[in-house]
Amino acid sequence: MKLQGTMRINDKGHLEIGGCDTVELARRFGTPLYVLDEEHFRQNCRSYYRAFVEKYDGVVIYAGKTLLTLAICHIVAEEGLSLDVVSGGELYTARKARFPMERVYFHGNNKSVTELKMALDFKVGRIMVDNPYELEMLNRLAGEAGVCANIIMRLTPGVEAHTHEYIKTGQIDSKFGMVIANGQAMEAIKKALNMEHIRVRGLHCHIGSQIFELQSYAHAAEVMMGFAAGVRRETGWAPEEMNLGGGLGIYYAEGDEPRPVEAYAETVMQSIREQAQKHGLPVPRVMVEPGRSISGPAGTTLYTVGAVKEIPGIRKYVAVDGGMADNPRPAMYQSRYEALVANRAAEEPQETVSIAGKCCESGDMLIWDINLPAVNPGDILAVSATGAYNYSMSMNYNRLPRPAMVLVRDGEADVIVARETYEDLIRNDVVPERLVKRKVVQLAGAGY
Ligand code: LLP
Repeated sequence: MKLQGTMRINDKGHLEIGGCDTVELARRFGTPLYVLDEEHFRQNCRSYYRAFVEKYDGVVIYAGKTLLTLAICHIVAEEGLSLDVVSGGELYTARKARFPMERVYFHGNNKSVTELKMALDFKVGRIMVDNPYELEMLNRLAGEAGVCANIIMRLTPGVEAHTHEYIKTGQIDSKFGMVIANGQAMEAIKKALNMEHIRVRGLHCHIGSQIFELQSYAHAAEVMMGFAAGVRRETGWAPEEMNLGGGLGIYYAEGDEPRPVEAYAETVMQSIREQAQKHGLPVPRVMVEPGRSISGPAGTTLYTVGAVKEIPGIRKYVAVDGGMADNPRPAMYQSRYEALVANRAAEEPQETVSIAGKCCESGDMLIWDINLPAVNPGDILAVSATGAYNYSMSMNYNRLPRPAMVLVRDGEADVIVARETYEDLIRNDVVPERLVKRKVVQLAGAGY
């Protein structure tokens, strides 16, 4: 496993993150446990801040869908980034954390009336309008509220990035955004420019996630600026803001070669400037929405090894106390991960094993064929790069309680998400009176 951020191996041969011994963390907080390296998370925010905000007066909008909790909102706000939220729930979290609302960007391909009203009421900075239906609805709601909504139009540029089928979004056949190629985007923007309660500030596209090819961004910028030039010709309006979405890839496992944020910024800015010059457009304020490349590498999940099952000549399964419920990515996207045995982190690999989760599902495999030292029940397994789209996509399948999350830094560990309890799992269950009357449910004082 590649050691990232503040990870190191201490004198006991244990994996340490943020100055905390992970074996000790597992003992103290239990497993599965999400461990977030605060320093690493902040450093990632800072790389973006330096590359886009300081250097080009751009805007960096952290994508909350990757990992959002009250504590994360505090950190993101402190680091001077803005925040992309995609639902009433994420918006509510930001509000509760007192995240500055003018720095909130509200996304979503099917925002509800309630969500849009909430966004107007909280006075979010920008609403990213995804489709003509939403545009009409927002104009009406803003009118009713007596305000003018600042919007950015989400477009589909027809740029295909090389990434997993389910996480690419910029191609024409996508549920997101208004298509440039067939005139839908032009028609919508003309409408929007004439709406009384809408102010169009800019354009947006997002071409996909876990992208290593920077040229895809240059291409997207070219298409978007070309479109902007067309809009200017037809309406006289030019975008003040150009949001090119997120998507920068990270290191999960061998073969992943992430590009530096500075190179990403240079590519994007160069393309935007060239295109602005080519079309005689003012250079818009460039915005990016990184998520994975900020939170992903900063997260590690600790598990305790349980059953180890060897099928001679075929495979050795090492089962851990979590799996697809806390990390659905391998099951959903065949994502690859690396791991090490945290309590014997300095030992050389000895055997090839496969890491299984504990859900009742053959597809609940975290890692196929990984080389590890001999693994035994009770060992602590650390899986790296789990900061993005793990906790945020976690679930209670098989009624597994969600793990806790601890924020580690300089030897201190603080819980930022408490471990779910069995009681949490039944909190919203309701037994209708008629079932109780018929005594279908017999609670046998089990004493849990
Ligand atoms: N902006 C928009 C409009 C997006 O749709 C996304 C991700 C981002 C920004 C952030 O992209 P990032 O920098 O994190 O790549 N659940 C999948 C990824 C889905 C991506 C959703 N959109 C996964 O686990 O790989």
